[in-house]
Amino acid sequence: MPDRGPLLPIAGHEGHGTDFSDRVLDYGTSPRNYGSLAVPDGYAKYKGPCGDTVEMFLLVADGRITGASFRTDGCTPAMAAASAVTVMVTGKTLWECVRIDQDAVLAHLGGLPDDSRHCALLAVRTLRRALRSFAKTRKPGAQPAPPE
Ligand code: FES
Repeated sequence: MPDRGPLLPIAGHEGHGTDFSDRVLDYGTSPRNYGSLAVPDGYAKYKGPCGDTVEMFLLVADGRITGASFRTDGCTPAMAAASAVTVMVTGKTLWECVRIDQDAVLAHLGGLPDDSRHCALLAVRTLRRALRSFAKTRKPGAQPAPPE
């Protein structure tokens, strides 16, 4: 998937521009941590029911996320949500990351319209798969295994 860089508002959600928080517009048009990592410790690519895909790359050291990045072919809310997830996980322990859910991402973003809330879930599900991919490389029981 080629890097797309920032999107202009609001791909896939035309007509809802005024419904987005300042942070969604900020992260959605100037995403933090957009791109890939060459040798991630955790990685996942997940396609949501809407057909959009998020990839997430994690670096882990001493039980903490030391770096995170993402790519997506999804809408601007997906861009904002995945960007938010990478900001939220950086510096956190793996156990803290496991507890990041859709509501936490929505709170970080200042909310999303009802028809865009699933975009935050797509980002969270991708994070959990990336954490799980890291956990599978470790000894059983040594790292958290996020729920499906
Ligand atoms: Fe697919 Fe937003 S519409 S992630």
